[in-house]
Amino acid sequence: MTTTPPPTLIVNARLVNEGREFDGDLRIADGLIVEIGSGLSARAGETVVDAAGRRLLPGMIDDQVHFREPGMEYKADIATESAAAVAGGLTSFMDMPNTNPPTLDAAALEDKYRRAAGRAWGNYGFYMGASNDNLEAIRAIDPRATPGLKVFMGASTGNMLVDNPDTLDAIFRDAPTPIITHCEDTPTIDALLADYKARYGDDIPAECHPDIRSREACIKSTRLAIGLARQHGTRLHVLHISTADELALFEPGPLVRADGSRKRITAETCVHFLRFDRADYARLGHLIKCNPAIKDAGDREALVAALADDVIDVLATDHAPHTLEEKGRPYTGAPSGLPLVQYALLASLELVHEGKLTTAQVVQKFAHAPAQLFDVAGRGFLREGHAADLVLVDDTPTTVRREDVLSKCGWSPFEGMTFHARIGAVWVNGALAWDGSQLVGTPNGQRLAFDR
Ligand code: DOR
Repeated sequence: MTTTPPPTLIVNARLVNEGREFDGDLRIADGLIVEIGSGLSARAGETVVDAAGRRLLPGMIDDQVHFREPGMEYKADIATESAAAVAGGLTSFMDMPNTNPPTLDAAALEDKYRRAAGRAWGNYGFYMGASNDNLEAIRAIDPRATPGLKVFMGASTGNMLVDNPDTLDAIFRDAPTPIITHCEDTPTIDALLADYKARYGDDIPAECHPDIRSREACIKSTRLAIGLARQHGTRLHVLHISTADELALFEPGPLVRADGSRKRITAETCVHFLRFDRADYARLGHLIKCNPAIKDAGDREALVAALADDVIDVLATDHAPHTLEEKGRPYTGAPSGLPLVQYALLASLELVHEGKLTTAQVVQKFAHAPAQLFDVAGRGFLREGHAADLVLVDDTPTTVRREDVLSKCGWSPFEGMTFHARIGAVWVNGALAWDGSQLVGTPNGQRLAFDR
């Protein structure tokens, strides 16, 4: 159930939107941004927030999260993870289908939307999933009911691999929504894993993970996906690019071209590939084990540059929580994935502090681009008439402490790190949801609408 929030006027902010940073005020009424200007004066009954030069951004839209519901609520659920996301400035999320049961038909999809209603702190969309045998359900998808179709072209958590070549071909030909892919070639990985198991047994050192989930596996699978998309004219979004080598496969340039047309094949990378590299396995071990694997420092630098150069279109998290007990198992039993939503925006803004990206570029990749790519109606921008999903960023340092983690798994790969900024306030559909130190109000997320 959503509430009608009180009208609010935010004054003296540094607004960041559509490539520009400018000083101004922003008025919220009935959950929407109703006015952007300067010198706006307060009306009767309005709450006035003096933003005093702090950065005001549209809420981030995370196009890749695993909130684990239904089926794995012992480690995460829609309420806990969306709370963590909103505390971190991520006001909308798109959740993956590798749940239990997996989201393989319209009934499973609608079950997720029902679960989220009234419990999600942010706005929500759920992906449909592909398998080797749900082609009819894929063809029947209502394109307005889901951001897209997730195809695991590499096996990961949840065993949803699609590896039948005829099925893949039909999916790329017939899917009524954008296709988003996990690209890692499973036979390549299986062969490497067998070699490492022969050498180490189950206790393979964590730093071998990028050699097992290898760059060759990523390149081979990404090439296959792009080839299929070109052949069939599919709208393809390749998730979590982790290597420098894959970058040459994508078209550089803005997501929306000067003539108004949009790239049909796009790429995403994730926050952890920008903040960690091979050297971090020694300290963090399985805590940063994920698929695809975090690779070398050179990959990390190339991925940051690819965001700046518009080779990569979207920045996301791939938030994939697992318990500490699970992460403490030997390599072959330790699941892949890490919790990221709560500190993902702050971690991304470190790249601004380091001079590698501008705030406007972070906003482009983490808010505007996912809205455009998935045809999200009325969100992702500071525009009059759009939903008032907003983040106020303070230039006050934040040190990540385990006791502050809101994700149910109760840990963060960033523990002990100090970021140069803080999430000072977050509004979701016009209602204050995070006041800088705690969640306030009640969950106010809405179902995302896809305008296509
Ligand atoms: O590291 C990962 N974790 N990669 C995936 O593809 C799945 C995810 C999960 O669900 O745990």
